[in-house]
Amino acid sequence: MSWDKTWEKVFSSKEWGKYPPEVLVRFVARNYYAAPDRSKIKILDLGCGTGAATWYMAREGFSVVGIDGSKTAIKIARRRFKAEKLKADFKIGDIVKLDWPDNYFDSVTDIASIQSNSYQNIKKIMGEVYRVLKPGGKFFGTMIAEEKNMHWILMEHFFKLAEIKQLFLPFRDLKVDYSKRTMDNRRAITKLWCVEATK
Ligand SMILES: C[S@@+](CC[C@H](N)C(=O)[O-])C[C@H]1O[C@@H](n2cnc3c(N)ncnc32)[C@H](O)[C@@H]1O
Repeated sequence: MSWDKTWEKVFSSKEWGKYPPEVLVRFVARNYYAAPDRSKIKILDLGCGTGAATWYMAREGFSVVGIDGSKTAIKIARRRFKAEKLKADFKIGDIVKLDWPDNYFDSVTDIASIQSNSYQNIKKIMGEVYRVLKPGGKFFGTMIAEEKNMHWILMEHFFKLAEIKQLFLPFRDLKVDYSKRTMDNRRAITKLWCVEATK
């Protein structure tokens, strides 16, 4: 497995990742809220962690699958879904090799998981994302661009715009936006790419 085991420590040591970012909510709302039957929209949440985005999309009535390398994160996600009587299919696995057939999902989402991989594996992951998306299916993800004075312990790939353009060459309608914000009374800075593309 290419996945960094430090994540296991992160999820075992504190409560983390319960709510999705607003950019994801906007993506889902704009593209899928008008679907006549939301249960027919299949969404794969890559590197779902404890299921923050999965939770939101399941609550909104979509058919969601979450995959993550951390057993602990998936256990926490399953427990929450059970307590809240929500449904999703959770899988422990490596996102570098996806087990689903070609052209299977209407959408694939990634909230900051692809970035925790080597660039070599990121290329493989994007190949898999393309493969499992239906023609016309959409990808949405957030990817780190730069950070200053943050204290992360995990491997991260900082994406350059040119790399994103390269990775998404097989896709169409690529839209790359970013959000940049300060934290810790402006001491720390983080900039995130928000990437949307269609197969
Ligand atoms: C920053 S966390 C984000 C979790 C979740 N998407 C959220 O928004 O709360 C990154 C997640 O990606 C998962 N991850 C990173 N690389 C992975 C890989 N190659 N296979 C499976 N999971 C991976 C980690 O286990 C971790 O749960």
